[in-house]
Amino acid sequence: MTDESFGDPRLAALHDPLDPDRGDLDAYLRMTEEFGARRVLDIGCGTGVFALLLAGRGIEVTGVEPARASLDVARAKPGAARVRWIDGDASALPELAVDLVTMTANVAQAIAGPDAWHGTLRGAHAALRPGGRLVFETRDPARRAWEGWNREESYRRADVPGVGTVESWHRVTRVDGSLVTFRTTYVFAADGTVLTSDSTLRFRGREEVEADLAGHGFAVEGVRDAPDRPGREFVFVARRPDA
Ligand SMILES: C[S@@+](CC[C@H](N)C(=O)[O-])C[C@H]1O[C@@H](n2cnc3c(N)ncnc32)[C@H](O)[C@@H]1O
Repeated sequence: MTDESFGDPRLAALHDPLDPDRGDLDAYLRMTEEFGARRVLDIGCGTGVFALLLAGRGIEVTGVEPARASLDVARAKPGAARVRWIDGDASALPELAVDLVTMTANVAQAIAGPDAWHGTLRGAHAALRPGGRLVFETRDPARRAWEGWNREESYRRADVPGVGTVESWHRVTRVDGSLVTFRTTYVFAADGTVLTSDSTLRFRGREEVEADLAGHGFAVEGVRDAPDRPGREFVFVARRPDA
């Protein structure tokens, strides 16, 4: 786990209210249609937003997530029974043979350690049917997104039903090569509680990701732009070759 907030029940419950605009998922929905996927594995499904969106369209979805508190939020949502939820990561999946594997919202960066990263690519490859695709995004390190992760630029204030007003912001605490660690602070107006969570993300370059995909037997079909964040993200489309 590289993001403590996803494992803390109080913070996991804030993820959807603090991030209500999920326009980033439109590109993944379009790719699901483009590739005619009927069975999808969503790795790092978090609170299940994308998995439930797909399930609502009649797609057979498996969501895997190592942060128990996030998975509990997902499991409690309307329609959750349509999704197969797995508590864990992609290194220990049952046999699936899906058409598409997704990792939305920079899950790839949250998988910071080399063993976990390679285990994820191996697991994704094994979960796909021959000819199936893996799609995911990662921030372009050249854009140095972390330079905007300070209180001034990341401050948010949200009114969360049942919780009250919550203020939050990020602050980078360490940059070590391609690893960026930052602290998110949450202030609950109702009782003045202050909670923090630390996260570490890996910023991998395009060539590095392409080489890793090839090393795990994927053919890189293309590297796209994220339409909602032009020029800032790489969206990889990798295919498990036909048998
Ligand atoms: C920024 S969140 C995105 C959640 C979700 N995909 C979404 O679009 O809302 C990153 C997620 O990656 C998960 N994660 C971290 N390490 C992981 C791993 N090794 N395997 C799978 N998921 C992981 C975190 O627990 C978290 O839920």
